[in-house]
Amino acid sequence: MDLVDPFGRTIRDLRISVTDRCNFRCTYCMPEEGMKWLPRSDVLTFEEIHRLAAIFVERFDVDGLRLTGGEPTVRAHMPVLVGKLAGLRVPTTSSSPLAGKKPDLSMTTNGASFRLLADDLRDAGLDRVNISLDTLQQDKFVQMTRRDELVRVLDGIEAAKQAGFSPVKVNAVVERGVNDDEIVALATFGRERNVEVRFIEFMPLDASGHWINDKVVSQDEIVAMINEVYPLEQVAARGAAPADRWRYVDGAGMIGVIPTITKPFCGDCDRVRITADGQFRTCLFATTEFDLLKLMRGGASDDELAVEIQRAVGTKWAGHQINQVNFIRPARTMSQIGG
Ligand code: 5AD
Ligand code: SF4
Repeated sequence: MDLVDPFGRTIRDLRISVTDRCNFRCTYCMPEEGMKWLPRSDVLTFEEIHRLAAIFVERFDVDGLRLTGGEPTVRAHMPVLVGKLAGLRVPTTSSSPLAGKKPDLSMTTNGASFRLLADDLRDAGLDRVNISLDTLQQDKFVQMTRRDELVRVLDGIEAAKQAGFSPVKVNAVVERGVNDDEIVALATFGRERNVEVRFIEFMPLDASGHWINDKVVSQDEIVAMINEVYPLEQVAARGAAPADRWRYVDGAGMIGVIPTITKPFCGDCDRVRITADGQFRTCLFATTEFDLLKLMRGGASDDELAVEIQRAVGTKWAGHQINQVNFIRPARTMSQIGG
């Protein structure tokens, strides 16, 4: 049965945060020190994650599961979780192209430990991976992530390709005055390494609250800068995916740009999220959460959980209100919500 929100959007994509912890401290996401981690007992177990995922996939025809964090690879035994999720089947009655098959399984990672896990994750059934990389300069990498791990991240990207993930996507958050001078360099990197770079407009989900609209480099600016050096043509229709895509006219691959701020794509959004502590969120920017952890641990049945999930989806907003007077920053930051 489809999970449809009040604006007629069918939910197809569930993002599951497996931990709020991270081995990086990206400035646009976390403070340098003083993050308060969830107590381990509040973090969903693999069994609980599997149970919730099964409800979404098998009852509500969700056909995509993305594992996020914090940094998902800092949680032990991730291939075990992926293997469990790979056992789920989208109902044969679903209108999804994956009806009768396993859901599409993906992960967003900072890549630093990906070399160690790539083959095991692939063997367990992970289909796709997005690795974050905002700069190719070592000093700027240290400035932006507060960790000296550029070499390991680059190696993680290679490991993902070698393990057979295809496409491998690279996420680059662009912040004016920080890394906007590297947009073309990152595009060149993508062309040379045969990875799809996805530029992300900086969103107000940083821990320090330093986001201001002037720091957002718009999709139009990003595309214009790259187009000047490598001519681009837009690829039609993105459907529910957040990225608009362009291909290089010379055939050297694609880029994506996620225009959360300047061209919100909320009207096509098919995503919902579960935080590491089992809170269900119907938008990145939602200010309300639905406590599935408490329900589950209180003995709720799958039917009761399904009812609560439907109730929550019934509150999904038409769209975020960033840059409007009534916008309220969510109390949690990106690493606590899961990208
Ligand atoms: N704005 C935009 N993207 C962000 N990410 C983390 N914080 C922000 C932010 N404030 C991205 C990361 C990663 C994904 C999980 O979310 O770079 O690619
Ligand atoms: Fe960690 Fe990702 Fe946040 Fe960077 S953006 S601190 S890698 S969770």
